[in-house]
Amino acid sequence: MENEQTFFDFAAEAGLTKHFGGLEGTAELVGLCHIGEGSYVLDVGCGVGATACFLAKRYGCRVMGVDIRARMVERAEERARRDGLSDQVAFRVADAQDLPFEDDLFDAVITESVTAFPEDKQRAVNEYARVTKPGGYVGLAESTWLQVPPPPELVAWVSQDVGSCVRPLAADDWMGLLENAGLQDITMRLHPVDAKHEAKLLTQRYGYGGMIGSALRMLVMLVRNPAYRRFVKGVRESGVIPENLDEYFGYGLYVGRK
Ligand SMILES: C[S@@+](CC[C@H](N)C(=O)[O-])C[C@H]1O[C@@H](n2cnc3c(N)ncnc32)[C@H](O)[C@@H]1O
Repeated sequence: MENEQTFFDFAAEAGLTKHFGGLEGTAELVGLCHIGEGSYVLDVGCGVGATACFLAKRYGCRVMGVDIRARMVERAEERARRDGLSDQVAFRVADAQDLPFEDDLFDAVITESVTAFPEDKQRAVNEYARVTKPGGYVGLAESTWLQVPPPPELVAWVSQDVGSCVRPLAADDWMGLLENAGLQDITMRLHPVDAKHEAKLLTQRYGYGGMIGSALRMLVMLVRNPAYRRFVKGVRESGVIPENLDEYFGYGLYVGRK
């Protein structure tokens, strides 16, 4: 069983998921998607629920989070209970490519470092558009190649940093997915990735207490789980941040209106 464990199983166990841009990126996406008090928001690929809880707390909206991994959903539910937000946020296990919701339900559907993963990205974006109300917004915050083709050492670094099955796209391809899903007034904002700043953003998102809690859970995994030890060894071996990272790799915010 242990060799079936993936990057995201370890992330769920540690109680820590991330996307490039951290809370700064989320706040920018919220503005572009016109999310505010009274909005009903779907966060697809919600991970451990950090964005869902942040949106409920900061903007007073209702949030549904879905993730393909049951353990992520459990972690997200724990966070919502801890933060006293269980009446504002709810979570379900679901695949982005097959959302278990009726048409025209949400004011906004967002994803942060998620749509790079499904096999059929167009099918996933079509699903986001289907469950969005007419006049509502679909907003993606997704890793992006700023120049293609990227050098192989960058592909290797990005894969170990965000999970081995990640398949980022170039900006035009992300825009094309929104266009093909029938969305209008599509906007894009591109940001380079600064790996050192990303580490600070992670602490800002989870706080020192959250980071210490996750570090302890990772230590326990190191002691008890041989698959995790192999994973950490692999990360150490390919771990130097490439110097040309910001020339080639960034994240984009891609937003369209239904
Ligand atoms: C890089 S993490 C980002 C999590 C979260 N959005 C955040 O910002 O912390 C990617 C998440 O997408 C989830 N995921 C991957 N493929 C998915 C799919 N097809 N449908 C739903 N969730 C998916 C993973 O389980 C993981 O929790």
